[in-house]
Amino acid sequence: MTKKRKILVTSALPYANGSIHLGHMVETIQTDIWVRYQKLRGHHCTYVCADDAHGTAIMLRAEQLGLTPEEQIANISAEHQADFAEFFIEFDNYHSTHSEENKALSSLIYTRLKENGHISVRSVTQAYDPEKNLFLADRYVKGTCPRCKTADQYGDNCEQCSATYSPMELINPVSVISGATPVAKDSDHFFFTLPEFTDFLKDWTRAGHLQDEVANKLAEWLDGGLQEWDISRDAPYFGFEIPGETGKYFYVWLDAPIGYMASFKNLCDKTEGLDFDDYWGADSPNELYHFIGKDIINFHALFWPAMLSDTGFRTPTKVCVHGFLTVDGKKMSKSRGTFINARTYLDYLNPEYLRYYYATKLTNTVDDLDLNLEDFVTKVNSDLVGKVVNIASRTAKFVAKSGGVLSGTIAEPGLWQKFIDAEATIANLYENREFGKATREIMALADAANEYIAEQAPWSLAKQEGNEQKVLDVCSLGINCFKALMTFLKPVLPITAAASEEFLNCTLDWSKPLAFLGEHQINKFKPLMTRVEADKVQAMVDASKEEAKVNTSDSASDSWLAKEPIAPEIEYGDFAKLDFRIALIANAEHVEGADKLLRLTLDLGGDSRNVFAGIKSAYKPEDLIGKRTVMVANLKPRKMKFGMSEGMVLAAGPGGKDLFILEPHDGAEPGMRVM
Ligand code: MSP
Ligand code: ZN
Repeated sequence: MTKKRKILVTSALPYANGSIHLGHMVETIQTDIWVRYQKLRGHHCTYVCADDAHGTAIMLRAEQLGLTPEEQIANISAEHQADFAEFFIEFDNYHSTHSEENKALSSLIYTRLKENGHISVRSVTQAYDPEKNLFLADRYVKGTCPRCKTADQYGDNCEQCSATYSPMELINPVSVISGATPVAKDSDHFFFTLPEFTDFLKDWTRAGHLQDEVANKLAEWLDGGLQEWDISRDAPYFGFEIPGETGKYFYVWLDAPIGYMASFKNLCDKTEGLDFDDYWGADSPNELYHFIGKDIINFHALFWPAMLSDTGFRTPTKVCVHGFLTVDGKKMSKSRGTFINARTYLDYLNPEYLRYYYATKLTNTVDDLDLNLEDFVTKVNSDLVGKVVNIASRTAKFVAKSGGVLSGTIAEPGLWQKFIDAEATIANLYENREFGKATREIMALADAANEYIAEQAPWSLAKQEGNEQKVLDVCSLGINCFKALMTFLKPVLPITAAASEEFLNCTLDWSKPLAFLGEHQINKFKPLMTRVEADKVQAMVDASKEEAKVNTSDSASDSWLAKEPIAPEIEYGDFAKLDFRIALIANAEHVEGADKLLRLTLDLGGDSRNVFAGIKSAYKPEDLIGKRTVMVANLKPRKMKFGMSEGMVLAAGPGGKDLFILEPHDGAEPGMRVM
């Protein structure tokens, strides 16, 4: 074996304001497989994580539940840890960013940045909620777009015309939190002077720490010019107060990555022989790996290495970025029941099924990966139950007949050699996070073993006397193939691997090259894995739909956060001015250069209208043609970036894929008035 490596590994720290879902599990399963692989090869690998506990969202969520933020984050931490444990994610430590260690390390890093002249201060004007006495982030302000006058737009950009603006430029802005009208207020903010690190980052991002596609993306930003990073937030804020200031707090993303260090520090303090500086010192000889999703690259590959390099710490060996989970080809959706919480999955299905399925889909690219529910059932059943476990179940009984002692003869050296030859390939694929390719190599070996057993047909051989040794030789090779396969799969299937060790009466060790088990006593075979039942998958989807309903009605009734304030009362006369008509969608097409809009040609029974509708995220144009819907027919034509819009269609829903136009019943003829 090569030299023993010392590796510190992290997964991104989940926010403490929500439950773990199957999207998060892509990351923790990917990381856990890699960590278990390293440990299996005999390396010293330490895996730490924590909850990301700070920020406005968590503060508001706690308030909404009538809890202190501390109580809220303690509850969520227990929930997160239980979910991860049941998926067999083997953290060496799970901590919180709201901890003493993190406070001390964040202060230290900030103070050093400041001493080095890398913190600047300047006044920033922001929307402020005068009722809640709180500065409002852009997404907490809504109002009418100053450019196209579409109502109900967020404080940063317009979904209808794509204009970008600051929240105070909205017409009739409202605080989503209280419904109050925000006022503009100035306050001093602290900035990390990132542009001063441009040259350092141009080198660092090309020095082998990142996937090429990630480095290329960052090069665009680096060439476009970096901006100073606002690292402070005003009170009230749930976080750490900035040393030497009052009422100023670290922005959650300043102390979040420092949470990796804090969790490790917490582990060092309770572990003999584990030394903080040995891993985080500027000249640490050891490795540091961060596993993250593609949405948080800039925090890990720009801000983080810049901060570390400036404050006397080492930078990451590798930042490994993965893509996002889709379910049945689409973004996870609450209404379709494909926004599946980790807990809901666990209520219905064996966690190892998901570990295996994700493994078959994982690559070392940032491409999204799809959980196709039908394929999930088929693949797990055919690969794990049909191929791997099958080898043991069809050979074990013949070995048992000979007293359970394996034969020392390798009945078909060519077959065994295939396993030996594949060992280094599979190891490399694991090392390079090509788990999909690794599982395909492993399944090819399982196919070869099954073919051999089918050809030899020990069940037929056993019918004739005098074949006892031959049957034992064939089946012993089968058991050895099974042992090799389970050794290769041990990082993915820790529980089935443990049950296999019990059956094989030996540990599945991969710190040394694969060895043939000769003349060795094995134990009675017990079924190692059962088939996935398709109706359980459906039940899980149904349960997820129900949960979504409950949660939506919850937020509609008691959450002032999710609820949109009702607009001021109007007279009946105002309402009566609106002329709603049934419209036939005669044509629908994409608009070049618009991400949200479709161009609709609406037929009002002779009168034809050109309307731009912001429903591209939810509908394909070809699916709309021939449908009837409802439009406001007497709206004054508005000039938009892409042309005149002569009316508006009505749609409802939270947005994205979940946006629904009205679809009146048959019999509603184009042009008919809607009352
Ligand atoms: N708290 C920050 C991370 C701080 S790290 C110093 C955060 N939290 S998160 O809960 O939103 O996400 C945690 C991780 O899960 C991120 O790496 C994120 O990319 C990943 N995922 C969240 N949803 C995901 C999918 N749907 N699919 C795949 N990964 C996803 O970001
Ligand atoms: Zn607009």
